[in-house]
Amino acid sequence: MNDQTNPGRAVILRIRRQDRPDTLPRWEEFSVPRRPNMNVIACLQFIAANPLTTDGTKTTPVVYDSGCLEEVCGACTMVINGKVRQACSALVDKLSEPTSGAGAAGEPITLEPMRKFPIVRDLSVDRQRLFDDLARAKCWVPIDGTHDLGPGPTISDELQEERYPLSRCISCGCCLEACPQYTPANRFVGAAIFSQVNLFNVHPTGKALKDDRLDVMMGEGGIADCSKAGNCVVVCPKDLPNLKSIATVGRQATLAALKNFFGG
Ligand code: FES
Repeated sequence: MNDQTNPGRAVILRIRRQDRPDTLPRWEEFSVPRRPNMNVIACLQFIAANPLTTDGTKTTPVVYDSGCLEEVCGACTMVINGKVRQACSALVDKLSEPTSGAGAAGEPITLEPMRKFPIVRDLSVDRQRLFDDLARAKCWVPIDGTHDLGPGPTISDELQEERYPLSRCISCGCCLEACPQYTPANRFVGAAIFSQVNLFNVHPTGKALKDDRLDVMMGEGGIADCSKAGNCVVVCPKDLPNLKSIATVGRQATLAALKNFFGG
């Protein structure tokens, strides 16, 4: 049941909704009873079970994506109070402090879908471009078949230290949503790809595809299109060293271009 009878213990959510990619968006407001330590996903679950707006109008459940509920899969990424982040790690009391006194529900929390990816419905978007770009840049370690290959190559402590932060990427799309260069109209691959190219280019087996990756990095939408705005670092939920990756991949691409020019 909606908690509109006791708004002092409720949180208000303003949600940007869109039924289909070709329909106009609209805003709807919901009141959700506060519980200690609740996250935004818990609010969306409540709304799914009680699809009633604050003015008492019955509506459809809000569509959103989620999977792991522990900031690992990236599926629940959306724009919350103007900042792109994961809904499962967004705690309601940190977003909207409950104020004391009767009728005080705290500031409304706004939820919007990411705008850089095609909308599916409401808060759900299609991040396929990101996965296509990871494939385009060959962001994997090539192995030959599924037979037993024996132990993998030894990786020094120093190289592990270098690679581990890059391996934390969850392909959520935060860096792309915040990037001024990444738009639906271009082919720019963005920081998520640069960091994975960096990760696999320094892997002892992964470097077998380094030249192929750098060809993509030197092509349309590659490293030359990066403006180094740095938003990708600010919004990354896993603190990836994206600017360092951009510098490293830029250097590797320049060297590869010189090598190609001189026929090396
Ligand atoms: S549900 Fe997986 S990151 Fe939020």
